[in-house]
Amino acid sequence: MNINTVGILGAGKVGMVLAQLAVRAGYKVLIAGSGSEKKIALTVDVLAPGALAVDAKSMADGVDIVILALPLGKYKTIDKDSLKEILVIDAMNYWWEVDGLRTDLTNPMQSSSELIQKYLSKSHVVKAFNHMGYHNLSDESKMNEKFERKAIAIAGDSVNDVQAVAYFVDSLGFDPLFIGPLSNGIKLEPGSEAFGANVDKYTLQKIIAGFSSTAHGQNILKARNNGH
Ligand SMILES: NC(=O)c1ccc[n+]([C@@H]2O[C@H](COP(=O)([O-])OP(=O)(O)OC[C@H]3O[C@@H](n4cnc5c(N)ncnc54)[C@H](OP(=O)(O)O)[C@@H]3O)[C@@H](O)[C@H]2O)c1
Repeated sequence: MNINTVGILGAGKVGMVLAQLAVRAGYKVLIAGSGSEKKIALTVDVLAPGALAVDAKSMADGVDIVILALPLGKYKTIDKDSLKEILVIDAMNYWWEVDGLRTDLTNPMQSSSELIQKYLSKSHVVKAFNHMGYHNLSDESKMNEKFERKAIAIAGDSVNDVQAVAYFVDSLGFDPLFIGPLSNGIKLEPGSEAFGANVDKYTLQKIIAGFSSTAHGQNILKARNNGH
């Protein structure tokens, strides 16, 4: 799959950093916030020059890949028809301070990206860029170097989709680390040791392999076992 144009939904901290990186990597970038493009145009010009501010409805027109960088609690505001058949990177996390107390977003039986895949049933959802803080994403990108890079974990159900996202992650200056199906995305979410990880691929792999021996991992597994 050729990625030329990247759409980003959410023009906040993560959306803006990913827009900067994608412009620097040579992609055409369209970015949208919750309102009109006029609301974010100046910020985009200053923080991610080269990216184009658009409205959410037209953001997905002609793009090859879309990154979701809005509060998870707002996922039902995403126009699912506009993302039909599109490869979607879910960078969102549940953050109760922002999203409020939401049991639908904290179900231990599924990763939040599986919830997004169910909602965007006609899109191809892959989880990536959720575990690293935006400042680290900004500071640690090494686009022209292959050594001493930091890693971004990727979870997804389709080999082709995961490969395309791995290529994209690499082009933004990080080592992609495939961690299995979308359901494994729960190993990257708030509460897990990998959440916040700003480490190399080998270290990230070790952290993720140890998921089930952590208290958080045990709680998830216990909830899942009781559910059967
Ligand atoms: N902060 C991090 O370091 C970090 C790292 C990895 C992942 N994440 C995840 O990435 C997501 C964004 O985090 P953030 O820190 O960038 O948040 P943020 O700075 O608060 O930005 C969120 C952006 O989403 C926009 N938005 C809200 N509702 C929208 C909608 N319905 N359609 C389009 N855009 C909408 C907001 O626009 P308005 O201002 O107009 O509402 C705002 O521009 C969250 O799910 C977060 O958990 C964050």
